[in-house]
Amino acid sequence: MYFEFTEEQMMIRQAAREFAQTELKPGVIERDEHQKFPGEQIKKLGELGFLGMMVSPEYGGSGMDAISYVLVMEELSKIDASASVVVSVNNSLVCFGLEKYGTEAQKQKYLLPLAKGEKIGAFCLSEPEAGSDATSQKTTAVDMGDHYLLNGVKNWITNGNSASTYIVMAQTDASKRHNGINALIVEKGMPGFTIGAKENKMGIRGSDTHSLMFTDVKVPKENRLGDEGFGFKFAMTTLEGGRIGIASQALGIASGAYELAVQYSKERKAFGKTIADLQATQFKLADMATEIEAARLLCLKAAWLKDKGLPYSQASSMAKLYASDVAMRVTVEAVQIHGGYGFVKDFHVERLMRDAKITQIYEGTSEIQRIVISREVLK
Ligand code: CAA
Ligand code: FAD
Repeated sequence: MYFEFTEEQMMIRQAAREFAQTELKPGVIERDEHQKFPGEQIKKLGELGFLGMMVSPEYGGSGMDAISYVLVMEELSKIDASASVVVSVNNSLVCFGLEKYGTEAQKQKYLLPLAKGEKIGAFCLSEPEAGSDATSQKTTAVDMGDHYLLNGVKNWITNGNSASTYIVMAQTDASKRHNGINALIVEKGMPGFTIGAKENKMGIRGSDTHSLMFTDVKVPKENRLGDEGFGFKFAMTTLEGGRIGIASQALGIASGAYELAVQYSKERKAFGKTIADLQATQFKLADMATEIEAARLLCLKAAWLKDKGLPYSQASSMAKLYASDVAMRVTVEAVQIHGGYGFVKDFHVERLMRDAKITQIYEGTSEIQRIVISREVLK
């Protein structure tokens, strides 16, 4: 067992670290305050090849491995989780599914511009009454011969407004339950497709989260991903990789807060010495460092399994479950170490604490990760 990164992986990590410092850090507080989508930064991330990281170069991607993806997600998320969620969704939930299950024509038309970062994608599974219980899809895709007629509402869609390409799960044959669900590629601007207002959120406020409405949207049959009725399994297999992305996002939020806490503890003086000289602070930092390292190893293990072509469903759920809890614990302690300064926006840790919470909710809540893990354990 080797715990070493390759030269290439270290270079990719360094590129992401520098990008986060030079491009994401300036303005991150203002974007959070004003809920501003990091559009220019995402364009540059596309130019660096970070929006189609694991896609083969044949389809406009960078051909990197999942380990590199974890490293990039951690570095970007240390600074701006609103930007990193775009990277996660585009890579894991959109490009991955298109490359793995798309036809050649779908790859040429949709995957290529998404992998190059010329366009952004969205993944649309959740509905007002179907979140964790994802098989209860109310959105319908009625088979009309050469096309599906799409009707319904999707909730909480990341990149809801900034995307051009949407993968939408919808029920075609309710009698077949989850085996009657299809995954359809929907384009922005298709008649009958409208986008709701941006959600006003606690965290990742720069990310644009919207509900989507579909009224008699004609989606050509050639836009279906996989065989008829494959949509739910498409969503589940895609989410296995997505959870590596969100686990790494949680890891980055935790390590970003931890680095700030270490630095601050060495500068802040109380009772004639730095607070880093107090064992109370030292023990907090020791616990934070240990938990972050454990979360990192879980993320890397899941990515390694994926790279090896081995099953990684349980590993990605474990990584997300643990890393998201670590993100909450570490960010709360980082605020504590900053004292009153931690409670104001200029010191970044309060934002990281707010951003951490979503990692326990989206791409399957912590309770859902426990369901996935326990089913594997009891198999
Ligand atoms: N791979 C392949 N197939 C899978 C699978 C997987 N990982 N997981 C389940 N399936 C299959 C099952 O084998 C079953 O098929 P068969 O009947 O043919 O065997 C079918 O899917 C239904 O599975 P279950 O019986 O396990 O279904 P369930 O109703 O018990 O639900 C669940 C399972 C794991 C709870 C699932 O509903 C789930 O993951 N819910 C959470 C939804 C979620 O994560 N949403 C995220 C939305 S995207 C997002 O959030 C993005 C973002 O924020 C940025
Ligand atoms: P519910 O499913 O109603 O859950 C409520 C509570 O009940 C939770 O604590 C849950 O864990 C618990 N619970 C439910 N069922 C069980 C059970 N069987 N056992 C134990 N506990 C259970 N979705 C997309 O499709 N695409 C996106 O891009 C996307 N982006 C998002 C961005 C943001 C900012 C947010 C907030 C959400 C996003 N989501 C997206 C939706 C997200 O995946 C759902 O919110 C999540 O899956 C939970 O669903 P829900 O909100 O309906 O909660």
